[in-house]
Amino acid sequence: MDKKALEALLNDMSTEEKVMQLVQIPGSEYEASAEITGIERGQVKDNVKKLAGSTLGIWGSKRLRKIQEQYIKEHPHHIPLMFMLDVIHGHKTVLPCPLGQGATFDPDAVKKGAEMQAQEASADGVHATFSPMADLCRDARWGRIMESTGEDKILNSRMATAMVEGYQGDDLKDSDHIAACVKHYAAYGAAEAGRDYNNTELSEHTLREHYLRAYSEAIKKDPSMVMTSFNSVNGIPATGNKFLMKKILREEFGFKGVLISDWGAVGEMINHGFAEDQRDAALKAMQAGVDIDMCSGCYSSSLEDLVNTGAVSMQMLDEAVLRVLNMKNDLGLFEDPYRGIDMDAGPVITDESRNLARETVAASLVLLENKDKTLPLRKEKYAFIGPYADNKKLQSSWAFSGDDKNTVTVWEAAKEVYEPESIKVSAGCTMLDQDTMTARGKRHVDNWEEENSKLMAEAIKAAEWADTVIMCLGEDFAQSGEATSKVSIEIPNVQLNLLKEIKKAGKKIVTLIFTGRPLELNEVRELSDALMICWLPGTEGGHGIMDILTGKVSPSGRLPVSFPYTVGQEPLHYDMYPTGRPRPENGPSAFTSSYLDCENGALYPFGYGLSYTSFEFINPKLSAQKMSDTETITASVIVRNIGDMKGSVTVQLYIRDVTSSRVRPIRELADFKKISLDPGAEEEVSFVINEEMLRFWTAEEKWESEAGKFLVWICNSSRDGQALEFRLI
Ligand code: NOJ
Repeated sequence: MDKKALEALLNDMSTEEKVMQLVQIPGSEYEASAEITGIERGQVKDNVKKLAGSTLGIWGSKRLRKIQEQYIKEHPHHIPLMFMLDVIHGHKTVLPCPLGQGATFDPDAVKKGAEMQAQEASADGVHATFSPMADLCRDARWGRIMESTGEDKILNSRMATAMVEGYQGDDLKDSDHIAACVKHYAAYGAAEAGRDYNNTELSEHTLREHYLRAYSEAIKKDPSMVMTSFNSVNGIPATGNKFLMKKILREEFGFKGVLISDWGAVGEMINHGFAEDQRDAALKAMQAGVDIDMCSGCYSSSLEDLVNTGAVSMQMLDEAVLRVLNMKNDLGLFEDPYRGIDMDAGPVITDESRNLARETVAASLVLLENKDKTLPLRKEKYAFIGPYADNKKLQSSWAFSGDDKNTVTVWEAAKEVYEPESIKVSAGCTMLDQDTMTARGKRHVDNWEEENSKLMAEAIKAAEWADTVIMCLGEDFAQSGEATSKVSIEIPNVQLNLLKEIKKAGKKIVTLIFTGRPLELNEVRELSDALMICWLPGTEGGHGIMDILTGKVSPSGRLPVSFPYTVGQEPLHYDMYPTGRPRPENGPSAFTSSYLDCENGALYPFGYGLSYTSFEFINPKLSAQKMSDTETITASVIVRNIGDMKGSVTVQLYIRDVTSSRVRPIRELADFKKISLDPGAEEEVSFVINEEMLRFWTAEEKWESEAGKFLVWICNSSRDGQALEFRLI
């Protein structure tokens, strides 16, 4: 439909019809089996159901076609309904959770993954996904860290950008693609004390320099939507925040698409103490620029009256409705309301999608310890022990459209590689301590103690028989994701006890940790010869893990978040601001900015990860020692694979602005490149440093760079490398 026809359509619509384009209702209104991803607030009225412009949480080629047919028939202008879904790390084929994807440091792979997800979801009738989540996360207590790509703005920007490109492709009309939604705007990841939905207090410079960066970069790729967040930011709920949405999002970032609230967030402004009632909440959300009200019922109950009484102008309403109609038009829904739907088979998991998932898993695994080259495994007798050894629940609770019966467990993959007489499996213990609270309620196991002593006895036997034990441990999938904040971030006690008991058998121990958040791993690392983070790896988890364990692929994942010594260090991130009393590297720490009982930095820092091979960084250098704001400097290094195996390495560029009008982080990732090298091979890796990369929110409140001295590291993790120096003149 051309612009004129769209405007004519708008002019022909009644006020009620217009308002309803801004109303989203849960898919359960159309079919009870739909996924509820928020707190359901009761049935919606018939007229709302008939006219609401979009719905969420429902998929399936046949059922969506049926719903659409009925809806269009009854709609006065036959405007199609838009179907949205949380396709977060997979629809049918499930990829590693976003934090795992962050660990790949490979935006190209992440883009391919998003393309695959879009194709599968579209074939199931879905038009838009609520992804990418571009929230910066520095707090392991916040369970939604699993849905992010980590603690760094540049890494998050690259990943969010790749996802938008992958989902949307070049043209949204191409039914292999779906609309993307950058969320949760803004600063949701900074929830105070890591408690979900909690308030966020951030200075404007930290907000702009760190928290807003990934959203703004992703918005440059024209995502169809942005979603507001539940939290308040500096005292004003994000969903009613004019500064964030009008001034920054629309004016500064130039976002032209649809702004949707998070589930119920318009109505939650009443609980925040920011709106008096539903009508007031609807007014404040409209004034702040929220186009679609996701499931709070405020727009459906009050917006028409607000327009009729002049509190909201018709022009304001029209602008919002036009954005929604434009999105439907961009998707080609007016020409084909059944776009993408594959009525024959619906989306299916293919060899190709499995291969992509498998490669992504292998690239996401982060090897933290490998004492005496315990890994890769050789031909020996192996016992796979732990609640994750043969567990299909390898995906997060956000991958609800992917069926975990398709998942390959570690044990299933091991059986493909080893002779049956050389391997054994044993769960060893229950996943959780008795009555542990998860996002899915309390986990209670009848006869928990007897069950655990039986499992433990079996596991000890298996360990005594084996040469090496592969311990498969971690958090349950329902311990990360929405509403899963925790104040202790160790593996469950019952699992730690199991590990200690197994250790007594005196065998080599390789520990695999499945998790959606950084964990405290002090004890685990002491008890293990090798230690690897597997995240929530998804459908091909078992295969990807065995590819690494057996040495078919060398590990190349890097931590996208710091793993602390203790939860008491949280929020923890590598790019801290300096203090007037820095802790000396090797001197006494008294009266410096430090803890009496712990290091300042992480146990395993951002960017860290081991490989089976070794890489030498030769002659890191800068092309010049001075640069004006129109010039560039090239930072380069020769990377050589000096081991005996092919491997990939992520070369990281960090910069520090040494003296400036406002303090700058002790180092910040500026760029990174992942390369693959055969044994003995070398490659020059170079990065261009320009003035734009050196800008920050100055004391004058301007986004500018300042002349002076800068340090540069071209290195292997946020904690290593030799500083080089240049001046911006
Ligand atoms: C609530 C979550 O915060 C958000 O991430 C999700 O996309 C929506 N519900 C829709 O399910």
